[in-house]
Amino acid sequence: MGKFVLGAVLALTLGAGTAFAEVPKPAAQAWSFNGVFGTFDRAALRRGLQVYTEVCAACHSLSLVYYRHLQSVGFSEEEIKTLAREFEVEDGPNDDGEMFTRPAKPTDPFASPFPNAQAARAANAGALPPDLSVMTKARKGGEDYLHAVLVGYRDEVPAGVEVMEGLFFNEYFSGQQIAMPPPLADGAVEYADGTKATVQQMSMDVVTFLAWAAEPTLEDRKRLGIKTLLFLLVLTAMLYALKRKIWSDVH
Ligand code: HEC
Repeated sequence: MGKFVLGAVLALTLGAGTAFAEVPKPAAQAWSFNGVFGTFDRAALRRGLQVYTEVCAACHSLSLVYYRHLQSVGFSEEEIKTLAREFEVEDGPNDDGEMFTRPAKPTDPFASPFPNAQAARAANAGALPPDLSVMTKARKGGEDYLHAVLVGYRDEVPAGVEVMEGLFFNEYFSGQQIAMPPPLADGAVEYADGTKATVQQMSMDVVTFLAWAAEPTLEDRKRLGIKTLLFLLVLTAMLYALKRKIWSDVH
């Protein structure tokens, strides 16, 4: 009897286990900013900004990033002003006590698509598109995971999986059903530098941009690390030479 119950419990647990397919581990990508000497690929950053503003910004805010921050990665003041002017932000109150909208300025954070979380949910079938400012730091797997989710939509749903109304099958999202409609399709943007806008390319570019957004000081951090190591190396050599000198007549 005991054996039977144990068997039944085991069968049930294993059976339940197979109903949820295992979420695969995102593959590691060759990011330009990986490694000790890694830096953000400037061309990819520009393309990524374009993908964010033309595609993702329709649903996702980036409220910790300011337009002026783009100066640190080679955007000119004029370029930043032009970019900011394309967005409307709320300001005020004015002298009549009323809020008003005006074109964004370089000193504004990236404009949010929705005035508040409720409006964002209402426009997205109840799901909240999260702010993307520090998203690459907020998810296990970081950039590799973000890229995997962006390219992880499948037309053919595996047998036995039933996708709920309003959700989309995504191999890498936890639970494999995501409320975000596939945001990228080949040719969704037209790159100014002539790069072919495949889903793979746009995803790598926008994730590079989001990695910069989450850690704009990454390059400074690495540079300081390298300088510190060099300094320690030189100091060690000097101390060693000094030690040899001080002890040279002790035999
Ligand atoms: C039509 C609106 C819409 C667009 C456009 C859109 N998203 Fe989303 N996104 C959502 C919603 C809604 C969610 C929440 C999904 C959920 O919780 O099931 C989401 C979730 C996410 C997540 C979080 C996944 C997680 O692990 O929680 C990331 C990352 C993301 N989107 C990135 C992007 C990027 C990058 C773009 C542009 C290429 C983009 N999204 C375009 C609506 C959108």
